[in-house]
Amino acid sequence: MCGIVGYLGAKDPKEVIVGGLKRLEYRGYDSAGVAILDGPKSDLKIKVVRASGKLSELSKKLETEKFSGHLGIGHTRWATHGVPSERNAHPHTVGGVSLVHNGIIENYQEIKAELVRAGAEIKSDTDSELVAHLLAAKVKETGDLFKAVELILPRLTGAYAILAMWEKQPEVMVAFKNGPPLVVGVGEKEMIVASDVQAIISHTNKVVYLDDHEIALVKGSELQMFSASGHPIKKEVTTINWSADQVEKAGFKHFMLKEIFEQPRAVANAIAPHIDLEKKTVEFKDLGLTSDQLKSIERVFIVACGTSFYAGMAGRYMIEELSRVAVECDIASEFRYRNPVIPKNSLVITVSQSGETADTLAAIRLAKKSGALTLSICNVRASSIDREAHGRLYMNSGPEIGVASTKAFVSTLAIFNLLAIKFGQIHGFVGADVQATAVDALLGLPAQMETVLSYDKFFAESAIKLKAYRGILFMGRGINYPIALEGALKLKELAYMHAEGYAAGEMKHGPLALIDERMLILMVCPSDQNYEKTLSNLEEARARGGKIVSIGTGDNHELKTVSDDYLALPKASWMLNPILAAIPVQLLAYHVADAMGHDVDQPRNLAKSVTVE
Ligand code: AGP
Repeated sequence: MCGIVGYLGAKDPKEVIVGGLKRLEYRGYDSAGVAILDGPKSDLKIKVVRASGKLSELSKKLETEKFSGHLGIGHTRWATHGVPSERNAHPHTVGGVSLVHNGIIENYQEIKAELVRAGAEIKSDTDSELVAHLLAAKVKETGDLFKAVELILPRLTGAYAILAMWEKQPEVMVAFKNGPPLVVGVGEKEMIVASDVQAIISHTNKVVYLDDHEIALVKGSELQMFSASGHPIKKEVTTINWSADQVEKAGFKHFMLKEIFEQPRAVANAIAPHIDLEKKTVEFKDLGLTSDQLKSIERVFIVACGTSFYAGMAGRYMIEELSRVAVECDIASEFRYRNPVIPKNSLVITVSQSGETADTLAAIRLAKKSGALTLSICNVRASSIDREAHGRLYMNSGPEIGVASTKAFVSTLAIFNLLAIKFGQIHGFVGADVQATAVDALLGLPAQMETVLSYDKFFAESAIKLKAYRGILFMGRGINYPIALEGALKLKELAYMHAEGYAAGEMKHGPLALIDERMLILMVCPSDQNYEKTLSNLEEARARGGKIVSIGTGDNHELKTVSDDYLALPKASWMLNPILAAIPVQLLAYHVADAMGHDVDQPRNLAKSVTVE
């Protein structure tokens, strides 16, 4: 995902925008740029300065640049469409209109074809530039940037947060979104629009959060908010009064919630080092295992504890599907004592956020003693497990403070997707096309995750109702079954509530007896190869009076009619649905526990790293 900043006011826009982008650099850093008004007051023009690479490259270019205007926008990029380069960097400017975009326009091909047919000169490989073309055409018609935005909005599908300016209206910025975040800082005679409060807080602590399908019109020192259909709406101005502790939590009430919201970035950081954006391939540079060694592998064991084990279970579906190499999953405390049969040409993969879990460390030592190759997926470099493994991959999630693991979990799922693609390619089952499609799907994931994070509000509001149930039964099939287990674990470890995770196909073999109106069922039911069967499991539960919350793909009317609450995930590859579905089950557990007044970051009886048996 990317970082957006816009400024209108008496300060130097260059300073405010670059300063804001620095606070947002965590959101993406493969290229950056600014578009700021310059020239005589009677004839201000947009001047654009962009640079490939980190923000420091842009800062160097801007050192000698001066801008006479007081309106500008800026962007730091995480590439999804178009490789990192100056020509693909934002802002994109067409006909005096300049914009910055975070997200993915899903129908960009259709829009591009229409623009090319109309003779438009497309300069970049990005989907974002196409929106600038649409806006430029409409400002010509209407003579007004806000009206132009209203007219093009119905054309866009996908996840987007966009901020636009037009040189003919030097006192106007227009922001609009569907999914990724946008916030307006309402200062003293100045306005700042950004992806995150971090870029605003040093100028004002009065902010207005945009909700999906809303438009913010900044005109001089006035902010007007509208619905997508152009009706004025009233929005609350929130005062951010962060204590020092809250600054550490970036304004979130708990580290866990901050880490849930960091997940799009965590996934981006997990995959970025291993993707060749030019070739759209997976390249492990410092894996510690050679391709020949990986090719020799005839059996894989994935060994871990707790949440990390559930990530491994999902990884098994990915590796078997793409490489056709048999994979076995074991809880580390079982693996180390069951005298496992580890055939030659085996690879034992351990998953451990801390890299210090005693049972997992014992498991990797047993594996090495048995002659197996070992690969560690962990979040802490130079931890015990990291040091002892033959090969290593990093979650790259940044420090995970909350005892309940969240961002490390989704990063591990993304790492397993990379591993499965590479393994499949080495074993001759994944060709260039499949690999490129899978890489594209991964690159689009952070923006899709930001869309799912908007369910935070739903769970905050429904937590009181959810905690009244005598228990929650999480269910799913295939690769979503581990998410059912993870959802149940989160609720147990945070809300201390009875919760079970079950393979949905198991219902008739016992859990169906649990179901009545006091038992809530959370069914993970995305539109994948198991959808129909999972839907009939859901209907069995409903027929017995169970209350149903279902998680599906898109606007699924069929699921909605058989659910008391329905949560829609963006359309994704079946292998990536677990990463999207993990977010609602994390938010459910977090808000129920918070509503109960529990210490969410340090739940009772638990520790962040179980370094003893
Ligand atoms: C998950 O929320 C728990 N914190 C726990 O299950 C954890 O995943 C498990 O202890 C494994 O820890 P590790 O990933 O550091 O090895």
